[in-house]
Amino acid sequence: MKQRERWPSKLIFIFAAVGSAVGLGNVWRFPYLVGKYGGGAFLIPYILMLFILGVPLLIMEFAIGQKMQVGAVGSFHKIERKLSGIGLGAVLCGFVVVSYYAVVMSWCLIYFFHSFALKWGASTKDFFYDKVLHISKGVGDIGFISVEIIFALVVVWTLIYFAVWKGVKSVGKVVLVTMPLPVILLVILFIRGVTLPGAMEGIVFYLKPDFAALLDTEVWSAAMSQIFFTLSLAFGIMIAYASYQHESSDIAKTAIITSLVNSGISIFAGFAVFSTLGHMAAASGVSIAELAKESGPSLAFIVFPKALSLIPFAPFFSVVFFVMLIALGIDSAFSLVEAVSTVIHDRYPHIRKQDISLYVCVFGFICGIPFTTFAGLYNLDITDHFITNYGLVIVGLLEVWAVGWLYGVDKLRKYINQVSDIKIGKWWNAAIKFVIPVCLLILLTLTFLNDIKTPYEGYPQWALFGFGWLILIGVLLISFIFSHFSKE
Ligand code: PHE
Repeated sequence: MKQRERWPSKLIFIFAAVGSAVGLGNVWRFPYLVGKYGGGAFLIPYILMLFILGVPLLIMEFAIGQKMQVGAVGSFHKIERKLSGIGLGAVLCGFVVVSYYAVVMSWCLIYFFHSFALKWGASTKDFFYDKVLHISKGVGDIGFISVEIIFALVVVWTLIYFAVWKGVKSVGKVVLVTMPLPVILLVILFIRGVTLPGAMEGIVFYLKPDFAALLDTEVWSAAMSQIFFTLSLAFGIMIAYASYQHESSDIAKTAIITSLVNSGISIFAGFAVFSTLGHMAAASGVSIAELAKESGPSLAFIVFPKALSLIPFAPFFSVVFFVMLIALGIDSAFSLVEAVSTVIHDRYPHIRKQDISLYVCVFGFICGIPFTTFAGLYNLDITDHFITNYGLVIVGLLEVWAVGWLYGVDKLRKYINQVSDIKIGKWWNAAIKFVIPVCLLILLTLTFLNDIKTPYEGYPQWALFGFGWLILIGVLLISFIFSHFSKE
């Protein structure tokens, strides 16, 4: 049998894992959640969830991949033939995510080119919606494909392809740049941010706790889903990456380092974002609370470009900001591709890895086309909501069930302790078997009840069905059928 590919070194594995975890979610999703859910008080559920959910799950995914020495589908197949669908569900969810994640990166690329001349001018909102997205009036009005976005998308997929084309061999080289570069750029933005007039008010807003917010269950479910998303859990990524480690490599310490570095970067990014918003609030007279309410796309493509244009050397800092976003996103994006190609390569080892990666990238590009239409942002928003709030959580739930109740937690814990410097106690068994499943079930129920009560963001039912439920049910159904017909 052919020897499995290996990471060139332990450090490079950590770089790759951190690179996947640290992404757009750290810089725009996390600060926005802090602003929305009680300022500094949000850090309490966030950190609790990091230790209750994030660290144990990451240890588990690393352990499965490394023990089984195959990607997500093969790993669950080894636990029990009929469970291979869990792995397939994970990579399919990942595939859906990467198809729109790449589109967001293509917006970043467009903004990068416009940064030199600050093309967005004073009205950043019109620029984003009209000039870049050509946004239509509603989700039913598809309009046409935005030519600029589709061109940028081709470039983004080309970059992704060349990062993964030789599997871990090329990924190992690329992450040496894509992991540290955005962190360095973030430090530059941080220093610029905190030295601006008005920065302090922004930071006070960021850290001032509103403990009353902790009584709201929504805050807790937001913390839970953020931990899932930010650590790239339940996508088969960490399983695939760990499968290229030697069976005797350390697990516990690596997982702890990855999770702490990832959350550390999120908290640090909060300072950069809020100090800049503080300055903008002081300069424009709009309150920080108002500015911080903008999430996701609006924060990065509307509020931030405006904030950047208010500071000296604006084009320089704009370029830094968008290069940072691209570098942040790219290693998360290619980790998703690598999770998919690992699974295919495990199954069809005679097909060359670079051919598999090419097919995955081309297919990912095609699946991204609906997100480049004039209704693309609406489609993206709906798909993202359903895949991250349901797909991920369902896959996570099935993963802990399979490991906790069928494979045997203690067996896996013994293996982890055999190879790790830091020994993990029996608490981990309880986390995998009871605590995490209960948390995830509660999260799932809360989101479901909420979605039933009020249609997500007021979108029409047919759109929520087409871009949300249908994709979700499709992923689950394909995985289920695959499991059912899975052979020895
Ligand atoms: N962890 C990435 C982030 O925080 C997002 C991501 C999720 C990337 C899942 C890949 C897979 O942005």
